[in-house]
Amino acid sequence: MFEKSGRHRHGRDRLAKPAMYDPADTEWGILSPRPLNRWTKRRPTKRMLVLFVCIFVACVYGVRVWRERQYLEEQRVLAEQRQQGQMRHQETKQKAEQHKEENVEKPKAESHWDEWPNPPLFGKYHRAELALPQHHVADPFANGKKYLWVENHVHGLGWGNYMQDLVFNAQLAYRTGRAFVFDNYTWNRDGSEYTDYNGKLIPSQIPLSALISSPLNGGPFFENDTKLRAIQREYWHKICPEPVMVSTYDVKKLYSESEPTALTILETWADHLSKIDEPCLAIDGYTERIFDMYLYGQKGRLLDIWPVLSESPIVKLYGYSPLIHSAFDVNRDLFTTIPIQEPYFPCSAAPGESTKDALQPQPLARCSDPYQPIPGLLALHLRRGDFVDHCQHLARWSSAWMGFNSFPSFPDQWVKPEGGGWGETTEENMALYLKRCYPTIEQIVKRVDEIRQHPTSKGLKDVYIMTNGKPDWVNELKAALRDMGGWDKIASSRDMTINAEQKEVAQAVDMMIGERAQVLVGNGWSSMTSNIVMMRMVRGILPETNRFL
Ligand SMILES: *[C@@H]1O[C@H](CO)[C@@H](O)[C@H](O)[C@H]1NC(C)=O
Ligand SMILES: *[C@@H]1O[C@H](CO)[C@@H](O)[C@H](O)[C@H]1NC(C)=O
Repeated sequence: MFEKSGRHRHGRDRLAKPAMYDPADTEWGILSPRPLNRWTKRRPTKRMLVLFVCIFVACVYGVRVWRERQYLEEQRVLAEQRQQGQMRHQETKQKAEQHKEENVEKPKAESHWDEWPNPPLFGKYHRAELALPQHHVADPFANGKKYLWVENHVHGLGWGNYMQDLVFNAQLAYRTGRAFVFDNYTWNRDGSEYTDYNGKLIPSQIPLSALISSPLNGGPFFENDTKLRAIQREYWHKICPEPVMVSTYDVKKLYSESEPTALTILETWADHLSKIDEPCLAIDGYTERIFDMYLYGQKGRLLDIWPVLSESPIVKLYGYSPLIHSAFDVNRDLFTTIPIQEPYFPCSAAPGESTKDALQPQPLARCSDPYQPIPGLLALHLRRGDFVDHCQHLARWSSAWMGFNSFPSFPDQWVKPEGGGWGETTEENMALYLKRCYPTIEQIVKRVDEIRQHPTSKGLKDVYIMTNGKPDWVNELKAALRDMGGWDKIASSRDMTINAEQKEVAQAVDMMIGERAQVLVGNGWSSMTSNIVMMRMVRGILPETNRFL
């Protein structure tokens, strides 16, 4: 029936004019039923097919592009959210870790040394360094402040060698009017926390403020010294991301002799660096040291810097950290009877101020010198352990004493024996080197007895032995010294009560005691002895009290 009616309608369409499309209706002008009808009845041509396909493809493509845009936008928003989430996660994680580090326990590094707690990492000292006022200024380059970063400083050596290099580099910065950039005392530069040292874990780096307190590591030089205040390496990297680099080789070319003296090196460098105006100046880390390692062992090259260095605030204001002072105070009863309360004396007013207001009474500052000599104390520096190999090596190469152990005013001088050198030596020479570098207990007792006869030794009654020797050997030595008679207290590095942090910097505790002793008996080839002697000379302690094995 449906079909019927359809056919019927069809038939009627053909007969009657369709009411829907009135050709008179202008709106439908082009779409008059006649051509439309014709068009629908046409067989599709090739051109039309191509056109149709093109339109279809264009539509699909359009939709895809639009979808892709939407997709990318969605991804962007998602990524943003993810990043924010990650940052929050990181923050929480860091906070948790920090909390754990500060309050719960030190994190353990992987090691075969599991049964012992890991050494401390000195985080709070590092944070205290970053909190120094010079790291919190509006403009680090105000008033033309300039910086010097000596990237090729010593690392992987003992504190004695590190300190020599540190003092001389800082002196160069001071000489050129630049603020010194100080780094951690660095054993290992790979960014690790711990380093395995002969089967023992040691911190890869220790902030200088755990060892010393001086203009070297950010302390004051004098009033209005903001242009000179040293900065921490991390802050340097922040303010000077692209410093001007100076290579050691370029400056070494300027020396007129192959082995210049310390003062010549200082002046040549100061001259060269003063021509550079840029505030951010770095010595290339991949070139040789400024002050070569041989310099410190050659008195002929080293000592001409003394008149300049000994007057420099770098050494004049050099002192030890509160950590070292506390170890000294806790243990002082072991090696001295001087009272804990050191006498105050009035500090003299600055010359300018006293004339300015001569009639006005000035308040006197109360001064106490924490590095005053300790009367009655004899300090012995005895390197043991693997130092025996080093002493034999020194003998084979006929090495002389360290430069600062060789001031002409000292009663003991090293006289190079005849024969030997260049890798071999005679038996007598070897015996002589060992006697003065790695002496036996009998040789030590004999030497102490000789030194006790000297006028500057008057009043000696206590002994402190700075040593890395094994406890058994140290006890034997103490017994032998006791047998000499005439000693009140006899103590050694092995007797000290120190905490985990002090243990890592114990050599500085020994140095402080050695610097204050009435008489020091050092090892001429040791850089630690030579640093102690340098500070004793800076502080004006009688040269005759610096003795050697
Ligand atoms: C210095 O040592 C501290 C403590 O170990 C460490 O946190 C810091 O990253 C070190 N600084 C540099 C510049 O390596
Ligand atoms: C330090 O600076 C202040 C302020 O600029 C000045 O008043 C004072 O005299 C200066 N002191 C010295 C010793 O130069």
